[in-house]
Amino acid sequence: MNAPTIRQMTETDIDAIMATFAVWNKTRGQYAGYFKEQQRDQRVVLVAVAPDDREAHAVIGYGCVVWRSKYAGFHERNVPEIVDLNVITAHQRQGVGSALIAAAEWLVAGRGFTQIGISVEQSPEYAAAQRLYPQLGYTPVGCTAHNNQLHLIKALAPPHTARS
Ligand SMILES: CC(C)(COP(=O)(O)OP(=O)(O)OC[C@H]1O[C@@H](n2cnc3c(N)ncnc32)[C@H](O)[C@@H]1OP(=O)(O)O)[C@@H](O)C(=O)NCCC(=O)NCCS
Repeated sequence: MNAPTIRQMTETDIDAIMATFAVWNKTRGQYAGYFKEQQRDQRVVLVAVAPDDREAHAVIGYGCVVWRSKYAGFHERNVPEIVDLNVITAHQRQGVGSALIAAAEWLVAGRGFTQIGISVEQSPEYAAAQRLYPQLGYTPVGCTAHNNQLHLIKALAPPHTARS
């Protein structure tokens, strides 16, 4: 399929995300909170809209970058983390998750960071993410036992110089 459009969340996207993800029992308060954190520059929320959605209203996926990770192994090394990455079922396996991750990497590299982290729970429910992250170049660097999380890291190329 064509690439989805990835852009930073706006306030009206709170309702757009809910319209798509309410079926996954998500709550509006979560996204309203995310938007506030984005305004405080603690988090950036990237949303994906389908390529055929000319008015770019319908959100089919989203993912966040937090500049200060809750995982000590990232926090102490000043590694921003991709968190809460979700693509709605009907649009999965069409490159949307990969596009969100690529946009997050571009954003993080653009702020001068040389590494980016991501975490995934080690349970069958998260098999897709467990497979995807190594495919995209993420390498395991640690685990958190109490919530069964595997933490992975990727080195980022320096911010782009002008393209020829
Ligand atoms: C993980 C997730 C974000 C991936 O999004 P996506 O848009 O499907 O990902 P992409 O299309 O870019 O990548 C496809 C790759 O993901 C993996 N994948 C996707 N669906 C899969 C499935 N049902 N089973 C196994 N691997 C799967 C594969 O590695 C696949 O590559 P392949 O098709 O070459 O085998 C999506 O599956 C999702 O939202 N899952 C539910 C929430 C979740 O687990 N979030 C991550 C928490 S850490």
